[in-house]
Amino acid sequence: MQDFNRRKFLKTLGVSTIAIGLVPGMSVLKSVSADEVDWYQNINRVNDPTNLTAKEKGHAPFLQTLGIIKSGEPFDLDIQIGENLHPMAVNHYIQWIEVYVNTDLISRIEFSPLCPQAKVTVPISVKEPSTLRILTRCNLHGIWETTKKITV
Ligand SMILES: [Fe+2]
Repeated sequence: MQDFNRRKFLKTLGVSTIAIGLVPGMSVLKSVSADEVDWYQNINRVNDPTNLTAKEKGHAPFLQTLGIIKSGEPFDLDIQIGENLHPMAVNHYIQWIEVYVNTDLISRIEFSPLCPQAKVTVPISVKEPSTLRILTRCNLHGIWETTKKITV
């Protein structure tokens, strides 16, 4: 099929972009609409914490720390992807989580679709008030970020 004909064919289907997602042991051909492309080009964040959208509830990293944080002493940061825990399935899953303290990368966790839950606990230690920055990537809905200021 000539390139011109392929574009014309895709336009008749209402498809602006074709993306090929690779999952271990399987390939997936998926059509992506123009607004979905933005999920891959930008870092997505919660717009209004008091009124989360369904996409935000399912993708924005949800953070919890227990107890008082003391300077230089390790504490556990519980991270769950989505206030409503994101699914982990072959065709839709969380690929990774990155944890930063200010601009320093502390941990990067990779997931396969076989991991049953998109949640981890990461030990953190800070000496002064800092900003935790958590990034995560959904294979269908792009990169999401949550930040949290912590005091010591
Ligand atoms: Fe997703």
